[in-house]
Amino acid sequence: MRVKNIDRRKFVHWLGIGWFVSILIGAISACSNKDSNSQTNTETSPNNQKTSNQTRSDGFVEVGTVADLDRQGKILVSKATPVLVLRDPANTSQLLAINPICTHQGCTVDWNADRKNIICSCHGSTFSAMGEIIKGPASKPLKQYTAKIEGDVVLVKT
Ligand code: FES
Repeated sequence: MRVKNIDRRKFVHWLGIGWFVSILIGAISACSNKDSNSQTNTETSPNNQKTSNQTRSDGFVEVGTVADLDRQGKILVSKATPVLVLRDPANTSQLLAINPICTHQGCTVDWNADRKNIICSCHGSTFSAMGEIIKGPASKPLKQYTAKIEGDVVLVKT
């Protein structure tokens, strides 16, 4: 009878160790999957086309596709360097790219296609498509970047 109790204790002990090791392996596996995903330098645009977020040797970064831009009327990227890309309302063959972080208190602005201007919903600052101030409280314009189209890809140089 006593031998059975010892065997049962050993069994429970090894069962506990097995459970701990399996949890540990699962946690390590989850971390390594996360790391490999964060090293991926491509992302899928809303129309499932792959775009690269690597900075090219000429300083430009792919931010989306022309199809994305035309379907949505804008491309808003909120990564390390946020960018809002629009077609220039005065000449739709030209692109405008601005930093969408409001110069008042840092909210993200958005393009209003009906009014053809950029509006900050936090306190109502309004900017032109080129980022110039139309109405405060913001006192500085939005920073402009260079944007262009190559093939079906929209590129921005920040
Ligand atoms: Fe944009 Fe205040 S943060 S108007």
